[in-house]
Amino acid sequence: MSEAKTLDVAAAYDVWAPSYDRYDNPMVYAAGHALSHMPVLVAQKTCLEFGCGTGRNLAALAARGVSNLIGFDFSSAMLAEARKRDGDWTLFQADMNEAIPLPDQSVDFILFSLTLEHVADLVPPLQEARRLLRTGGVIKIVEIHPFLSLNDISAHFKTADGEEVTMPAFAHPFQDWLEAFDQASLRVADLKEWQARDFGTKAPAKILRRGPDWPWVVDWTLSPA
Ligand SMILES: C[S@@+](CC[C@H](N)C(=O)[O-])C[C@H]1O[C@@H](n2cnc3c(N)ncnc32)[C@H](O)[C@@H]1O
Repeated sequence: MSEAKTLDVAAAYDVWAPSYDRYDNPMVYAAGHALSHMPVLVAQKTCLEFGCGTGRNLAALAARGVSNLIGFDFSSAMLAEARKRDGDWTLFQADMNEAIPLPDQSVDFILFSLTLEHVADLVPPLQEARRLLRTGGVIKIVEIHPFLSLNDISAHFKTADGEEVTMPAFAHPFQDWLEAFDQASLRVADLKEWQARDFGTKAPAKILRRGPDWPWVVDWTLSPA
């Protein structure tokens, strides 16, 4: 068996971008399921996704009536896929470990979906998210559950030629999350651990075969502290 190739994160997503939305990925399924169960959003609100990738979550928010959508990513190829989806969204290239070029308190809803696994220190992106959040705003994080990430489950894919590609990822136990929320002046308004049983019998086989109790994604809802 050939060894997996490791690329830096942006380079890996540049390669993955054209096939990302068609890839059989249980995490993408689980995160999408969790997000589809969010309470109804107010259409006029401004929503921002950190690491929006191909824009699949922005498209889901648009389908729920949200019109003011912003997304950024540091992979130009992932952003190019998002741009194909909708020319009206505000999309730009940025690294979530650095300052985001948006004004203080300009956003009502911020989403992180399957992106913070690539960040060693959770505090800088969460502090930026807190800075951007308007009074009464909400931050939603859906990420690989620590039980899985601590067992070496992280983003990876196969190219069209069958080559396995891996990239840097960081497992964050619950204590890391709670300390980072505290340092970013955020409080946990809600927490759900999505288990295989929550996805129903039509979930992908990769999810069902670990058994009904296995938690796949952790879903945090945060408010300003
Ligand atoms: C697994 S994909 C998730 C994409 C999208 N959020 C979704 O749920 O389909 C992770 C995305 O995070 C982006 N990403 C990772 N680290 C990043 C960083 N430091 N700054 C900006 N984007 C980043 C990647 O380029 C990729 O598009």
